[in-house]
Amino acid sequence: MRKRGDHVWRNNVMKRVQDKVAVVTGGARGLGSAAAERLCEEGARVLITDLNGAEGREQQARLTSLGYSVAFEEQDVTQPEGWPRVLDAAIGRWGRLDVLVNNAGIAIISDVEALSFENWRKTLAVNLDAVSWARRPGSLA
Ligand SMILES: NC(=O)c1ccc[n+]([C@@H]2O[C@H](COP(=O)([O-])OP(=O)(O)OC[C@H]3O[C@@H](n4cnc5c(N)ncnc54)[C@H](O)[C@@H]3O)[C@@H](O)[C@H]2O)c1
Repeated sequence: MRKRGDHVWRNNVMKRVQDKVAVVTGGARGLGSAAAERLCEEGARVLITDLNGAEGREQQARLTSLGYSVAFEEQDVTQPEGWPRVLDAAIGRWGRLDVLVNNAGIAIISDVEALSFENWRKTLAVNLDAVSWARRPGSLA
């Protein structure tokens, strides 16, 4: 949502990541899409990834229509074999990778007594294990 004074801020955006290349996981919506847009505003080229292909492609189209350099790859961050493809896609397209925003996450709101072990493991897999899989191509065990 636009707020009073936004135009002033937008006209004074610092290009702190000019020409850098960033990957933002879970970038189809929420905090991830906001992070992707801010990185674009500050000069970066951004590869968005998300489990949700339809929303991810919509986000890519929206940011591209604003004149930004944005790509999208469908990805489940909990799947280690998908990581080299994603990181290679950014490097293959723009020749470098400078920033990785491990944003994709879930929150299953529940009393701890009621949370199934399956959902406990799922939460840790997305929010925690995925950060470990997010390594450079060739470095996966
Ligand atoms: N929004 C908040 O105020 C807030 C506050 C504290 C923490 N968080 C945490 O920050 C993270 C992002 O929050 P949000 O509000 O933007 O959430 P959100 O649900 O709006 O967006 C999360 C995105 O991550 C994607 N995603 C989920 N699992 C994935 C997977 N396995 N692989 C790839 N993509 C996946 C979803 O498709 C979605 O697009 C979450 O972990 C959330 O719990 C959010």
